[in-house]
Amino acid sequence: MNYRHAFHAGNFADVLKHAVLCRVLQHLRSKPAAFRVIDTHGGGGLYDLTGPEASRGAEWRDGIARLRNARLAGEAAALLAPYLDTVASFNAGPVLTRYPGSAAIAQAWLRPQDRLIACELEPSAAASLARALGGDPRCKMLRLDGWMALRAQIPPKERRGVVLIDPPFEQPAEFARLQHGIAIAQRKWASGTVIAWYPIKERAGPDALAKGLATESQRPGSATVLRMELAVGAAPEPARLQRCGLIVLNPPWMLEAELAVMLPALAQAMSVEGSGASAAWQVDWVAREK
Ligand SMILES: C[S@@+](CC[C@H](N)C(=O)[O-])C[C@H]1O[C@@H](n2cnc3c(N)ncnc32)[C@H](O)[C@@H]1O
Repeated sequence: MNYRHAFHAGNFADVLKHAVLCRVLQHLRSKPAAFRVIDTHGGGGLYDLTGPEASRGAEWRDGIARLRNARLAGEAAALLAPYLDTVASFNAGPVLTRYPGSAAIAQAWLRPQDRLIACELEPSAAASLARALGGDPRCKMLRLDGWMALRAQIPPKERRGVVLIDPPFEQPAEFARLQHGIAIAQRKWASGTVIAWYPIKERAGPDALAKGLATESQRPGSATVLRMELAVGAAPEPARLQRCGLIVLNPPWMLEAELAVMLPALAQAMSVEGSGASAAWQVDWVAREK
């Protein structure tokens, strides 16, 4: 395992993933019943943006920093506020020095009745994640294979909640493993929301994933599947990732409409040339209610 998320923390891909995670968490918090967050690939928890890893490529400067400085129109500002406020809560002033990973963001949204399980295999990231969660009795860090945890931890007893599947995509077969993981989640927990992230370096992997999920969704009682993709540049395969996507199973009903407002704002704010000229986004249904 060579992947270190600290190099990428707060980049455009994190912004998309975490902004959508916050929309889902806000929806879950809108009802008093307890929910559970299962983060299969938790990462390091909290990232020092002034440290050597985050500073090396300074990807966060083209991601969260650009979004924070953007002039967002009313509705986009309102929809992104829960995410931006969460990031701000980890920073003492207007200057960003820390960026919360998915588990730290989820922890910030928990109420006394809610729970978080975050898995991380890499030892130093796991230690950092445990420190970030800080002995919070609502949170459990497992140094476990996230793919195995997916089988073991769902369905949770709360029956409401979200699974985030965010693998490092270091293996050639990661798209197939992701599809398999999503299918397991869908079969074991038909009503659960699942958010799965993927990079877009070519179309074959993402398209095969969508096709496989569409086929899986023909089973009776299966989930609705929403797909969204964001490009901040148009270069086909640059050294730095410029395109990524998310699959959301059983999205909150208003998420599609929210994305139609959020995604253009994200594309504009984080486009590589700053003008939004080569940025693009799309939202579509891979499987809809029959
Ligand atoms: C993309 S990062 C996760 C970032 C995090 N979800 C966030 O949004 O802040 C992927 C993480 O998965 C970890 N990892 C890799 N293989 C794993 C596995 N099989 N089970 C659990 N964690 C794994 C890596 O060490 C890395 O920290």
